[in-house]
Amino acid sequence: MNKQVCIIGTGPSGLPAIKNLIEAGISVTAYDYNSDVGGNWIYNENESHSSVFETTHIISSKTLSQYEDFPFRPEVSDYPSHEELRHYFQSYAKHFKLYQHIEFNTLVKSCERKDNGLWEVTTIKDEHKQVETFTDLVVCNGHHWEPKYPNYPGKFSGSFLHSHQYKKAAPFAGKKVLVIGGGNSACDVAVESSRVTTKTAISWRRGYRIVPKFLMGKPTDVFATKMKFLPIYLRNLLAGLIAEINNGSNYVYGLQKPSHKFGATHPTINSELLYKIRHGKIMPKVEIDHFEGKKVFFKDNTNEEFDFIIACTGFALAHPFFDEKFLNYREGPVPLYLKMFHPKYDNLFFIGMFQPLGCIWPGAEQQSKLLSLALKKAWKRPSNIESLCEREVTHPHMKQINTNRHRITVDFHRFMRDLKSQIKKAV
Ligand SMILES: Cc1cc2nc3c(=O)[nH]c(=O)nc-3n(C[C@H](O)[C@H](O)[C@H](O)COP(=O)(O)OP(=O)(O)OC[C@H]3O[C@@H](n4cnc5c(N)ncnc54)[C@H](O)[C@@H]3O)c2cc1C
Ligand SMILES: NC(=O)c1ccc[n+]([C@@H]2O[C@H](COP(=O)([O-])OP(=O)(O)OC[C@H]3O[C@@H](n4cnc5c(N)ncnc54)[C@H](OP(=O)(O)O)[C@@H]3O)[C@@H](O)[C@H]2O)c1
Repeated sequence: MNKQVCIIGTGPSGLPAIKNLIEAGISVTAYDYNSDVGGNWIYNENESHSSVFETTHIISSKTLSQYEDFPFRPEVSDYPSHEELRHYFQSYAKHFKLYQHIEFNTLVKSCERKDNGLWEVTTIKDEHKQVETFTDLVVCNGHHWEPKYPNYPGKFSGSFLHSHQYKKAAPFAGKKVLVIGGGNSACDVAVESSRVTTKTAISWRRGYRIVPKFLMGKPTDVFATKMKFLPIYLRNLLAGLIAEINNGSNYVYGLQKPSHKFGATHPTINSELLYKIRHGKIMPKVEIDHFEGKKVFFKDNTNEEFDFIIACTGFALAHPFFDEKFLNYREGPVPLYLKMFHPKYDNLFFIGMFQPLGCIWPGAEQQSKLLSLALKKAWKRPSNIESLCEREVTHPHMKQINTNRHRITVDFHRFMRDLKSQIKKAV
């Protein structure tokens, strides 16, 4: 059977996969349950696949957040908005004539690898079920759409939601809001909601360093690129020092001091949080202990009343179309070579399922180029792939604290180099 490849998802990761496979002359069918391409970057006021909100701008700057095959238009802002990104991804799909390979409004319900190695893919469109067979399966379904909720003793009688459901600040006008988390969603949601609330507090279960969006007039990732040839530990040491010189100590903001090294948690990039704290608009709190009605008790024995809690506690690595016995990455290690090749199944691939200290889609683009070479057999799957997968788990690019969100981290520059060197190896 000639190669017939199924691609799940047409967000920033699925698009370069389609492009590079069709350019290699490989037959592709891509499915997306949305009605257009762009994935997370199609803002919707109602709950949808997307987790962006009305005012989201990215945290990786445009210089380091573009496909090498399709640069941004010069007028795009340093940190593009979700709207600029939606336009960018849809222009990419139009430019490379990808739409004709995509079936929209189509949910991939299940994917089963049969005994002959082929994939049986069941889709649903307009309540109509269809089963198709493919030689290869490329998973690009994203990893920031299924909310992960925290659990605390007691019951909160106000409204409890997740950042995935937060769409805009307006519904929180005049309300008392508690935001949970120290990642980019938490800090963005705290800043945005504090513009209209009577009180916004942010609860951290540990200390974090807040990285500004600009340093010496340059986007921070562009500034940091000057250090890309240094060993990662030295880069992180310098980055931590620069953050401290820029902000001063967390202590002056009433925030907990980080007990880990810079880079040991996914970076939180925000130029407004500390400003808002010093203007009395956001109140820092420590970890939650328990709830009693609308009262939230914190681990420092203080308590406050809130109308809303917004848990910005991250997302699950979810693949609901696989039988959980076949594959389940919700917890535990994710042993994939270059975060894309499965140790056992040579016709199963993941694109974009990594968390860079930087932007996802340039890495997804390089993975897609390597994928097309692998499918054409121009790149040879290593015979020791199982041990390479294990090694990626035991030797991550950097040592991070052991929480669920830190299982698929890569250093942006090193990951790009590793992928490009494999692409060069292809005959
Ligand atoms: C608020 C927010 C801000 C972010 N900012 C940045 C940033 O600054 N830089 C950065 O690099 N990343 C950022 N991210 C991470 C984000 O995941 C990536 O930017 C990017 O969207 C990943 O692309 P993707 O194609 O892998 O996944 P997605 O964009 O999530 O796209 C997945 C696609 O798969 C489709 N799909 C999923 N399941 C199925 C199914 N079963 N059947 C059919 N179709 C399916 C979806 O409809 C969607 O179109 C941010 C995330 C959030 C939530
Ligand atoms: N403007 C932007 O571009 C933007 C905005 C939002 C998100 N993003 C991106 O989207 C992705 C997801 O970010 P995110 O902030 O939603 O999630 P995240 O990075 O997973 O952060 C989750 C935060 O919640 C904390 N947490 C998790 N479980 C908890 C619990 N049970 N109790 C208390 N705290 C808990 C985590 O603590 P630990 O540190 O202990 O794990 C962390 O501080 C990231 O890639 C991020 O960069 C970008």
